[in-house]
Amino acid sequence: MGRRSLVLLLLVFIKCLIIAAQTNNNDAAALNALQSSWKNTPSNWVGSDPCGSGWVGIECTNSRVTSIVLTNMNLTGQLSGDIGSLSELQTLDLSSNKLMTGPLPQEIVNLKNLSSLCLTGCGFSGPIPNGIGSLQQLLYLALTSNRFSGPIPNSIGNLSNLYYLDLTDNQLSGSIPVSSGTIPGLDMLLQTRHFHLGKNQLSGTIPPQLFSSNMRLLHVLLDNNNFSGIIPSTLGLVQTLEVVRLDRNSLSGTVPPNISNIANLHELALSNNSLTGPMPNLTGMNRLNYVDMSINSFDISDVPPWISSLQSLTTLMMENAQLEGPIPANLFSLPDLQTVELSNNHLNGTLNISTTYSNLLQSIDLQNNSITDFVPITGGNNITILLEGNPTCEKTDQKTQSYCNSSQSSSTNSMSRNNNCLQVSCSSGEVASPNCKCAYPYKGTLFFRALSAFDLGNSTYYVTVEEYLMQTLKSYELPVDSVSLSNPTIDSFGYLGLSLEVFPSSEDRFNKTGITMIGYVLNNLSFRPPLLFGPYFLIADTYDFYAGSNKRISSGIIIGAVVGGSLLLLLLVLAGVYAFHQKKRARMAIEQNNPFANWDLNMGNGSAPQLKGARRFSFEELKKYTNNFSDANGVGSGGYGKVYQGTLSTGQRIAIKRAQKDSMQGGNEFKTEIELLSRVHHKNLVTLEGFCFEQAEQMLVYEYIPNGTVMDSLSGKSGIKLDWMSRLRVALGAARGLVYLHEHANPPIIHRDIKSNNILLDESLNAKVADFGLSKPKLDSERNHVTTQVKGTVGYMDPEYYMTQQLTEKSDVYSFGVLLLELITGRRPIERGKYIVKEVRDAMDKTKELYDLHEILDPAIGLGTKLKGLEKFVDLAMRCVEETGAKRPTMGEVVKEIENIMQLSGLNPIAESAYTSETYEEAGKGHSHHPYSDDGFNYSGSFPPSRLIEPK
Ligand SMILES: *[C@@H]1O[C@H](CO)[C@@H](O)[C@H](O)[C@H]1NC(C)=O
Ligand SMILES: *[C@@H]1O[C@H](CO)[C@@H](O)[C@H](O)[C@H]1NC(C)=O
Ligand SMILES: *[C@@H]1O[C@H](CO)[C@@H](O)[C@H](O)[C@H]1NC(C)=O
Repeated sequence: MGRRSLVLLLLVFIKCLIIAAQTNNNDAAALNALQSSWKNTPSNWVGSDPCGSGWVGIECTNSRVTSIVLTNMNLTGQLSGDIGSLSELQTLDLSSNKLMTGPLPQEIVNLKNLSSLCLTGCGFSGPIPNGIGSLQQLLYLALTSNRFSGPIPNSIGNLSNLYYLDLTDNQLSGSIPVSSGTIPGLDMLLQTRHFHLGKNQLSGTIPPQLFSSNMRLLHVLLDNNNFSGIIPSTLGLVQTLEVVRLDRNSLSGTVPPNISNIANLHELALSNNSLTGPMPNLTGMNRLNYVDMSINSFDISDVPPWISSLQSLTTLMMENAQLEGPIPANLFSLPDLQTVELSNNHLNGTLNISTTYSNLLQSIDLQNNSITDFVPITGGNNITILLEGNPTCEKTDQKTQSYCNSSQSSSTNSMSRNNNCLQVSCSSGEVASPNCKCAYPYKGTLFFRALSAFDLGNSTYYVTVEEYLMQTLKSYELPVDSVSLSNPTIDSFGYLGLSLEVFPSSEDRFNKTGITMIGYVLNNLSFRPPLLFGPYFLIADTYDFYAGSNKRISSGIIIGAVVGGSLLLLLLVLAGVYAFHQKKRARMAIEQNNPFANWDLNMGNGSAPQLKGARRFSFEELKKYTNNFSDANGVGSGGYGKVYQGTLSTGQRIAIKRAQKDSMQGGNEFKTEIELLSRVHHKNLVTLEGFCFEQAEQMLVYEYIPNGTVMDSLSGKSGIKLDWMSRLRVALGAARGLVYLHEHANPPIIHRDIKSNNILLDESLNAKVADFGLSKPKLDSERNHVTTQVKGTVGYMDPEYYMTQQLTEKSDVYSFGVLLLELITGRRPIERGKYIVKEVRDAMDKTKELYDLHEILDPAIGLGTKLKGLEKFVDLAMRCVEETGAKRPTMGEVVKEIENIMQLSGLNPIAESAYTSETYEEAGKGHSHHPYSDDGFNYSGSFPPSRLIEPK
């Protein structure tokens, strides 16, 4: 070997060293060791520099491995002790790898920085290592659906930060550990919101010590175990509880009466136990949606009178509960009632529902009782009634009726998509998406455990959940075309399974990054489920990354007429399993000439005021909340009518926009507007709480934003002073709200009326975009623009739109540019006959400091101080108000630029959006906010950042 080649070799060697240095040596070695013990790792897992060469699923910070996310990779093997060497690891998510087996290694205790451990739906077995209690940073622990056995380790009680504990569906045995002396126990978990321990083999009594008034639990799910003894009365001390499931155990004794103190309880399931004594008195539990007392040994009694006072009740299950006497007629008039299951009791007398009954009523099961007469309901054809096994069914005229023959009222349980795509034939393995594209979808099952949160009979509801999942996935920039849910089935454990399909957008299949991220995002959503659907877990089917990959996608061509943008499923939800005797929920319009008649029914759920979805208010209610629309409650007015503030009985403040007679819309338009608004959730957009449509009134009810409009602040009217930094924050917030409308709402929305009067400021002076009164959703058929009558506000209106009547997102960008100029000058767009855009353009001199705009700048901005980035801000504003839309930036580009400017000014734009655990904790405190529903789609803070996205 010559000297030259030696030098060359040395150079190559040094070069290798330099590259490898991107990953900490220990971490690189640990990952290499893990890789060699697993099959099916991603194909780019080669070499010794996982961070530098961007291994799929690996996230690094400063050369240390901080995150491993490999969900549904078909990984095969065991988790070796090498994992313990990754001492900076914060996130480990290996969920849905069924062939990952064997025990959890003891070395896991070395992961002192781990905050999220998710192994849902794998094949791990053996005991949960006791050392798990030393993972002090752990917030999220989900070992759901594995084969773990042995006891729940006491040490879990040491996880003082733990938020979510899910051990559901394992083979855990023994009793629930509580603390004693120096031994820790689950009673110490004061920060934990979720105890999900269902579907195990846990036994013994439920320790009274487990619960205390210091706890913040939302969900206690102890169902499907072997617990015995009494229900401890300490449960009644946990005031925060929303869902309690103790069903399917061997509990006995009397239900502690103080259970009725839990004012927030939505779901109480005590069925399939051996409870005795009187049925608990639930008077005053006005949030209860779902009550299941079935199959117990309660004292013989009449149907408890308090049932008819539970104003939010949707589902009443008291099968085989020793009930006798008549059925109270007023039971059926509870406004939200959907399902009544009272079979196998001794109820007698006449069943007469004919007076007023809930228009959401779906099914009444009274089989095997002693009912002697039935008066069929007029107009109640949609309600399934089951009376077989009652004396009334022995009468010759009733015998043959369908309600006396449960076999005839056959209940299937399927939800089928409408036949948009019938003419699409996909090659084997491929599936037609709701948009009629053939592809290999991500498939799995979502298991929901809180049935109260789930509106099984409502087809709109499914669409809403699909849209929500879609939006969430999209907000991670995942290449997702559509999401589809189908086949609801309730299993014998009382868990509702829904088949999930997620379709890819760009190719006909997902790559590994796409698959792993979908699982990860959905798992994390289960950590903070939106109120819309409550806690669930996801078990994904193994994805075939290579199926048919050498075939061309020739058969996947759309032949038939594809309805543009129609994601809508025409759903028939029929269910029979369990006691949900479902039937068609596609309601016909009662009056064809009233477009609201049909929709009204579907919007009728006024039960939970904290629901994000729009809620219907009655005129009387709003009258009460606003002191009869008194002038003192007026906060503004405009061409459309007046705005009032009001306070709900919960203390939540609202703003009510009441249309005056001549500016009312047609019923259909109003409906469209509300449907649109209720789907839009973002922290920089004002949330629609509900609406009122009656007595010749149209009102929109919004969340109340305390600090008025940006215009009021700039003019000094509201007394709020905005300095340069605050103005930057306002600009950023408003821009983000618009990005959401343009890019993430489905269909996209053009605001059409962006102005300082429509940007509101909350208590922390965060900007919220309001008033979508003129907004236009964009349909797919209108790919590039919407042709429409020109509307908007003089001074803000895009000249191009004005001339061509063609509305695009760029019209909002123009108005936003005017807003930016307002923010720096404090002037109205047109003041004393002068147009702000022209004024600034004429006055500016780019060669001078601050572009020589001192004269025109708002003195209140803090002229004496350094206005870092102001020039760039002016440049941006001027680009937004370019004559032609094509020259203007998109709102996404605007956001990026404002973020840059903020960085120049020493503000951290990331902190503006980060969902820190602090704000997370705060979320539950305000009375008007639900801990889940508070954060919209903005989950950006705690996920591994975009590096997980595979390099192209
Ligand atoms: C249930 O409790 C309420 C108030 O707590 C009481 O007024 C009512 O009489 C009780 N009902 C029964 C049936 O015990
Ligand atoms: C219904 O049952 C109750 C209790 O068993 C009994 O007292 C009552 O007389 C019965 N009423 C009718 C109409 O049969
Ligand atoms: C159906 O679900 C939608 C979406 O969650 C909701 O807005 C609506 O009120 C529901 N309708 C009924 C009849 O419960």
